[in-house]
Amino acid sequence: MDVESVLRMKEGLGETSYARNSSIQKKFTDAVKPVIIDAAIDAYLSETPRCFRMADLGCSSGTNALSLIGDVVNGIDERCHEKTRQVPQFMVFLNDLPGNDFNSIFVSFSDFGRRLKNVGRRDESHSVFMAGVPGSFYGRLFPSNSLHFIHSGHSLHWLSQVPPGIFNEEGKSMNTREIYISKTSPPAIAKAYHQQFQKDFGSFLKSRSEELVSEGRMALIMSGRDTKEPCNKGTTLLWELLARSLSIMVAQGEIRGEDLELYSAPFYAPSLKEIEDEVLREGSFMVEYLEIFKDKIGSGDAKKDGVALAKAIRAIQEPMLCHHIGREAIDRLFHIYSELLREVMEKEEIVAVYAIVVLRRSP
Ligand SMILES: C[S@@+](CC[C@H](N)C(=O)[O-])C[C@H]1O[C@@H](n2cnc3c(N)ncnc32)[C@H](O)[C@@H]1O
Repeated sequence: MDVESVLRMKEGLGETSYARNSSIQKKFTDAVKPVIIDAAIDAYLSETPRCFRMADLGCSSGTNALSLIGDVVNGIDERCHEKTRQVPQFMVFLNDLPGNDFNSIFVSFSDFGRRLKNVGRRDESHSVFMAGVPGSFYGRLFPSNSLHFIHSGHSLHWLSQVPPGIFNEEGKSMNTREIYISKTSPPAIAKAYHQQFQKDFGSFLKSRSEELVSEGRMALIMSGRDTKEPCNKGTTLLWELLARSLSIMVAQGEIRGEDLELYSAPFYAPSLKEIEDEVLREGSFMVEYLEIFKDKIGSGDAKKDGVALAKAIRAIQEPMLCHHIGREAIDRLFHIYSELLREVMEKEEIVAVYAIVVLRRSP
């Protein structure tokens, strides 16, 4: 599977779109927003540029990107007024893979401008400018020394490819009937996923180190683990239930076993130690903040929560799964998935685990 050509969130503004099913990501981003805004203010104060250039990597197609950017702009704006300093102009770059539905964001850009807090105080020189940048964040996206601040939310757990080490010599996955690391996976599977993370995150850091100015900041939110063990319920449960839903459809003859065997998630949830090790190995950044953040998903109504969570996962997975099992199987798959989620949520809370990282570009 060529991940970078099939990985994208469900486009548009329809019922199953990412734009309509990304409130879980928004809730987590909102919970750690002060850390992100402080990192952006620190980046601004390090250089106090006339034009503050920032990028959101993996912006996707919902409202989350503009919501956070608005908060960062307001945060810097307020700090400037406290210090009676002139507010900078803002150049905002929105990045995602080329297949992303950038237009869903661009159409709300004029509303975004009107919603900024001190809009009345802004004249033309206090404007926010915006541009889309298609491409993989595992390579270079911007000119050298051109950015002051980078944010990436809920995106860096996506790998550039399914780790080649999970396949045997005949090209078959050794992770039988599973689509991510699970309790039954042989140790080689977790090792292959970790190695792919090291390679990808290393490339990400190297590219960003070229693009950020000295003392520039980077704030990252990604799925993470609070355990050393690679199989951690907080990050593997949702994949196990998706694998089980696919197996049910295979058993009922609704999809072919070979189709399931071909699908593996290009995903990895690292531990804080694994993140720190890569930052140290790459060598261009200082760690300013590195924490795990956990929160339960759902409202306590298992039926409603099961449906909502299945929709959220569908908005992320649909384009990739369509590639393997066909569009016709998708409704049924996510119906089974929502039932399995409901059964679990009736008995226990599902907790999501995120890593929050702030890095400073060394001088
Ligand atoms: C779950 S969405 C997150 C969207 C948004 N940041 C938010 O917080 O709601 C993950 C996004 O990361 C993007 N992505 C994954 N791998 C990428 C890569 N290598 N380069 C750029 N974007 C990538 C996906 O296309 C997707 O739009």
